[in-house]
Amino acid sequence: MPDTLPLVRFFRGQKTIGSAQAKPDSTLVEIAHLAGITIPTNCTSGNCGTCLVRLIDGDVEMPDPIPPGLDEHLIEEGGILTCCINPSSDCDIDVIPPL
Ligand code: FES
Repeated sequence: MPDTLPLVRFFRGQKTIGSAQAKPDSTLVEIAHLAGITIPTNCTSGNCGTCLVRLIDGDVEMPDPIPPGLDEHLIEEGGILTCCINPSSDCDIDVIPPL
């Protein structure tokens, strides 16, 4: 367990829209909520892709196997599902999804 929990910064394109420190085991949707940012969700279980955003920088705990709402192509574009993915380092996230 690292001493400090990851800091997640949120962007909309080039514009910074907020940041928040992760809590233990918090998903990116929950961290966005702490920053006052609402990321739309639907299934909250990695199936629908509604909560897709783009990881600009940092590392996340990618579930294995990859959830149905993601595919290799989206991951190459930085796509991550915020409802079921936790940060494993400080992260920069663009709330505008890839594609
Ligand atoms: S809300 Fe459905 S994949 Fe995240």
